[in-house]
Amino acid sequence: MKKVGVLVSGRGSNLQALIDAARRGELGGEVAVVVSNVESALGLERARKAGVPAVFRDHRGKKREAFDAEIVEILQAHHVDLVCLAGFMRLLSPVFVRAFPGRIVNIHPALLPAFPGLEAQRQAWENGAKVSGATVHLVDEGLDSGPIVAQEAVPVLSTDTPDTLAARILEAEHRLYPRAVRLLLEGRCRVEGRRVIVEGE
Ligand code: GRF
Repeated sequence: MKKVGVLVSGRGSNLQALIDAARRGELGGEVAVVVSNVESALGLERARKAGVPAVFRDHRGKKREAFDAEIVEILQAHHVDLVCLAGFMRLLSPVFVRAFPGRIVNIHPALLPAFPGLEAQRQAWENGAKVSGATVHLVDEGLDSGPIVAQEAVPVLSTDTPDTLAARILEAEHRLYPRAVRLLLEGRCRVEGRRVIVEGE
């Protein structure tokens, strides 16, 4: 059984989508551990409810590299094959990225490379985009900048507010993330420069 470690800082609805997909046998593996830098994160509660080890590590007062090394140690102790960032509100240092080369993914609520960074749904709305969506990408040392694994487009309606758009994108995220994780765990992705070649696509 392939093992996934999930990092969260908040609500954890994408974590829940991964846990639910694993339960249905649709993830190609199991969620083996959840780590958060926020003690009150709902994501930790969701993990506990699902019987998944849930670990809190405070980043405050620590150098970024020292904090990242702690997280890496936890993930390695749980023998994770893939690290999923799911609303984890911290940039990863090279220490972290190099510990899991090509094996860290993130989900972002826009069609990258458009609208990286915070409040991507609001950025799309404010800029008058007619289509936005969700992106799962490999994580490198930049911000929302690694090779794209999978995307789902979501229309932006003239009746949308940033909140209604974010809610529709979130539904797409919950479909997309488990699908992308499965492709990776099944070894169906090959990276060529900036491009991820998916077998059979
Ligand atoms: C999602 O919109 C995700 O795309 C972004 O952070 C949010 C996390 O939401 N990276 P949740 O904690 O998974 O509910």
